[in-house]
Amino acid sequence: MILTKFVDELPIPPVLKPQWKDQLYTYYEVNMTEFKQSLHSELNDTTVWGYEGSYPGPTIEVEKGKIVFIKWINNLPDKHLFPVDHTVHGAHMDVPEVRTVVHVHGACVEWESDGYPEAWFTKGFKQVGRYFRKQIYRYDNCGHDSTLWYHDHALGITRLNVYAGLAGFYLIRHQQERLLNLPSGKYEIPIMIQDKTFNKDGSLYYPKQPDKPIPELETSIIPEFVGKTILVNGKVHPYLEVEPRKYRFRLLNASNTRFFRIKLGSGQRMYQIATDGGFIQHPIGVKEIMLAPAERAEVIIDFTNLEGKNIIMTNDAPAPFPTGDPVDENTGTVMQFRVTLPLSSVDTSAIPAYIMPVPKINEQSASKIRYLTLNDNMDKYGREFMLLDNKQWDAPITENPKLESTEIWYLINLTTDTHPIHLHLIDFQILDRRNFDVEKFNKDKLIHYTGPAIPPEPYERGWKDTVRVNPNQIARIIMKFGPFTGLYVWHCHILEHEDYEMMRPFIVIR
Ligand code: C2O
Ligand code: CU
Repeated sequence: MILTKFVDELPIPPVLKPQWKDQLYTYYEVNMTEFKQSLHSELNDTTVWGYEGSYPGPTIEVEKGKIVFIKWINNLPDKHLFPVDHTVHGAHMDVPEVRTVVHVHGACVEWESDGYPEAWFTKGFKQVGRYFRKQIYRYDNCGHDSTLWYHDHALGITRLNVYAGLAGFYLIRHQQERLLNLPSGKYEIPIMIQDKTFNKDGSLYYPKQPDKPIPELETSIIPEFVGKTILVNGKVHPYLEVEPRKYRFRLLNASNTRFFRIKLGSGQRMYQIATDGGFIQHPIGVKEIMLAPAERAEVIIDFTNLEGKNIIMTNDAPAPFPTGDPVDENTGTVMQFRVTLPLSSVDTSAIPAYIMPVPKINEQSASKIRYLTLNDNMDKYGREFMLLDNKQWDAPITENPKLESTEIWYLINLTTDTHPIHLHLIDFQILDRRNFDVEKFNKDKLIHYTGPAIPPEPYERGWKDTVRVNPNQIARIIMKFGPFTGLYVWHCHILEHEDYEMMRPFIVIR
């Protein structure tokens, strides 16, 4: 099905209004419901799941260091929108089919409010997972001012819940940022990029079986999901009318599996100012931006002197990455900018020469080094699945960093996919990536490097919470664990991998 491109305007999710706000606290309530929404004007309205009747969910805007309470409320139907595979961890027949738990991705948050995958709850909190602790989550917003996002994280069905629409932006602001004089207000726009496939009737399609079906099972998880069309903020290939001036865009890849390598059709540079975890030291002029699932990049795009031009944002990343199918005419197009609005006032915003210091974590400060593999495996149905450190979700906890200690993790990829590895609670820095001999490693468990250490890309040299670990490479990350103790998770953010064992708990201990 080919839908005409650039016929719908880019929607901008509404900003969520608090139920109550005083000097010290802000309190929100967020309902999850099923509803119909138009995702393209040539399609019948699509049944989706969303927060507060909106897909993407409303944007939550908070001030750094201010405490926010949120009651996430499940008002979803009992039956899932998509086929559920009951053989994967946490989705067995002994639990209700529709479970939710909300994680604010990138948040510095106590563990009881982090959205632990087994802290799920059902409608009216009737049933809850074994790690459920509270109905009202508390966010201290102690991390960097940056583009975070919230999404569902229920064990074994995260891929289906997020695909149904359960995702939104969560922005942390700070006075420091206002002093930078970046484009703001209506010139600051969040861009959530996702891929989806539609049935003829306008409903969302998610496969019941992999390409090679599993005869013993009614429904089987698939190794990866890649959609046939691209949506931005919940519209297929939208357009945005802009003024001939600078804009700040907060880019987020909220797809299940698809990576995006983004460029502007005009060939012009974008000025990257922030990564997952906040501002980088200097803006960097880039011609393309790579975003794996869950990664964010903030860019300034300057449309000055481009009056009357249409500029297409394109994508050329194969899916799954890096060895999957090349993009086609649909998946290679993201959205369009039309420089058609008159300049409403002189553009006094700036691309600052210097943003703020991002101090490097010193390697010498690490008190522990962990070597952690990314592995392939086969289940009893002959399905391939992925593991971290060769361990399943339910194996005893092995990553137990001490509060306030610094660690270096070697993420050793023995598979042929690039995996975006995400840690909860903290922001890390990428030290380097380095090619190594996978065969030798499999034989003698020793690392034989086959090339020099490759420093992170200039645009990755800031705070990160998700790192791309490429095949035949070891990525090294460094981080300090805190300021909370407790139970968190680290996982691959390809949701089909995360849902099928490529996730592990970790515990920060005193
Ligand atoms: Cu964006 Cu553990 O997740
Ligand atoms: Cu993965």
